[in-house]
Amino acid sequence: MAVGVEPGTPRFEGARREAIEIRELAPDGYGPHADTLGLVGASPVIVELGRRIAALAPSPATVFVHGETGTGKELIARAIHANSRRTSRPFVPVNCAAISETLLESELFGHVKGAFTGAVKLRQGLLEEASGGTFFFDEIAETTPAFQAKLLRVIQEHEIRRVGDNASIPVDVRVIAATNKDLKQAIAEKRFREDLFYRLNVVPLHAPPLRERKEDIPLLAHHFLARFNQRNTARRMLTHGALQKLTAYDFPGNARELENVVEQAAALARNDEIEAEDVSIDGGASASLDTPPSGVRTLAQEVDKAERRAIESAMERNDGQLEKVARELEVSTTTLWRKMKRLGLRKE
Ligand SMILES: Nc1ncnc2c1ncn2[C@@H]1O[C@H](COP(=O)(O)OP(=O)(O)O)[C@@H](O)[C@H]1O
Ligand SMILES: [Mg+2]
Repeated sequence: MAVGVEPGTPRFEGARREAIEIRELAPDGYGPHADTLGLVGASPVIVELGRRIAALAPSPATVFVHGETGTGKELIARAIHANSRRTSRPFVPVNCAAISETLLESELFGHVKGAFTGAVKLRQGLLEEASGGTFFFDEIAETTPAFQAKLLRVIQEHEIRRVGDNASIPVDVRVIAATNKDLKQAIAEKRFREDLFYRLNVVPLHAPPLRERKEDIPLLAHHFLARFNQRNTARRMLTHGALQKLTAYDFPGNARELENVVEQAAALARNDEIEAEDVSIDGGASASLDTPPSGVRTLAQEVDKAERRAIESAMERNDGQLEKVARELEVSTTTLWRKMKRLGLRKE
């Protein structure tokens, strides 16, 4: 899922169901009216992070969150929104890596009738529709400089242009961006616009990896277990041995991995006492199967990305005319159509 709108804002539910899946509220009960930050942890870094979040949340400042996968970047963004003056408006998480640039742009900025093949009528973009809310641009390093220029306009001029339109429309959004990549390096390699970086980096926050705050492991483990118990009306408990095993581990996948490990242990434990042997973190495949370590992509993901790029640039060169694109890429139109559908380049 790439783009979502929080529930609880009826106008958005349904209105966009064709294109955007409504994202579930974070199951930890985190919502617009939460009076806590929802961040579990007692380590000095987390306490300081919480203090900074509480202080900056009410301001309109743009926030840039850096941290490894699973360190809680999205949770931080939600906490900022939940403690801001924008809680009556939506929190919109946008995963910039999970969706093609063409689709991302038409979702965010909207488009005018005839802007591209399939644009049969004018459509408002999310930035316009959810104006007044908070947009969380996750994996911002994966965007292209062209998209970055458009985002810069949103932050700097508070306006957007619908795809295919020359007129500007005012929008009022707070931007929070996140990445696990080194943006300085991306700037050096001309993959990331320096001007956007400085605009985003007004308030930098760092989500520290779990291995640098091991004292948070037991707290988080209990937090995730309590959630498991609540969901499953269970009464599982972590034994001392299980906690020791968890605390000894480095968690390259951070809180996300701990969450998975705890849930798996709770589900598989033979009785309510979760023992060390019920906790499987031997560095085996189980923990990292569906969350490859940051920066690593599966071969299938790499292939998809390359195909998407090839199709998008051919579409641009050929004004979106499928037959011409198919000829250039030496595939049948049917194959091209199928691929585009699978890659999310085409909705029908
Ligand atoms: N400090 C924390 N307190 C409570 N839950 C956390 C904390 N950090 C991360 N989590 C949980 O761990 C999971 C991964 O966090 P997420 O925000 O998605 O990480 P990221 O966006 O950095 O990949 C989520 O379920 C989140 O609620
Ligand atoms: Mg994330």
